[in-house]
Amino acid sequence: MTTAVVGTGTLGSVIARLLASGGETLRLSSADNESARTLASEIGPAAVLAGDNRDALQGADAVVLPLRFTALKGVIDEIADRLTDKLVVVPSNPLGIDAQGNVSRLLPTGQASGEVLAGWLPVGARLAMAFGTMSADVLESSSRRSPESAVLFYVTDEDRAGQEVERLIRTAGFEPVKAGGLEQSTRLEVGGELHDLVVDTAEARSLTDGA
Ligand SMILES: NC(=O)c1ccc[n+]([C@@H]2O[C@H](COP(=O)([O-])OP(=O)(O)OC[C@H]3O[C@@H](n4cnc5c(N)ncnc54)[C@H](OP(=O)(O)O)[C@@H]3O)[C@@H](O)[C@H]2O)c1
Repeated sequence: MTTAVVGTGTLGSVIARLLASGGETLRLSSADNESARTLASEIGPAAVLAGDNRDALQGADAVVLPLRFTALKGVIDEIADRLTDKLVVVPSNPLGIDAQGNVSRLLPTGQASGEVLAGWLPVGARLAMAFGTMSADVLESSSRRSPESAVLFYVTDEDRAGQEVERLIRTAGFEPVKAGGLEQSTRLEVGGELHDLVVDTAEARSLTDGA
């Protein structure tokens, strides 16, 4: 199947490599497309360099948006009409960094980024928050762990989005575990209790009992 990856920076390039190594076909774009071009040539025939963000969605079954939170709304508005009936996977943490390098949460305490994002998407897009729970290097090194796969947590409000994101998580070499609905996305982000964990399924289930 085909997944668009819009944003091929530190995290997006790892996600793209993992999906491609699991057999997914990719369509890549980035802000000026240079990083997407470099990544497409590194991955080879499984990855196509799209003309732009809208073109990346052409023929794609799903899209992953590994973008800084501040870039998300603009990109979603740009591609909105192409998101209907697609899985939209967002790994972004709702963080900003000021000129002094101070990092802060961009949403009010307790407000779930998953719910904010759901409000930015067009009707018919299916949202799952996933792939942002580990740093990019840990994500890459934890993929296809043996003998027991490492878990990637996700949240979504929709059963179909859950099935689709589980397929992508397995394609990337992890075992999926649902941590709840979109209102639970704070658990996945930096500072949340499920962030930066590399655990097996039994441990993950004990942490998400009842989700
Ligand atoms: N890095 C991590 O370890 C990590 C781990 C977990 C979660 N996350 C989350 O993942 C998100 C991305 O983080 P990152 O570290 O990968 O950031 P990054 O290295 O700065 O990459 C951001 C990417 O977004 C692209 N971009 C910016 N504006 C765009 C636009 N208008 N259209 C298309 N692409 C655009 C950039 O394009 P160019 O390449 O052309 O500049 C770049 O490829 C953040 O929200 C972060 O919280 C990151």
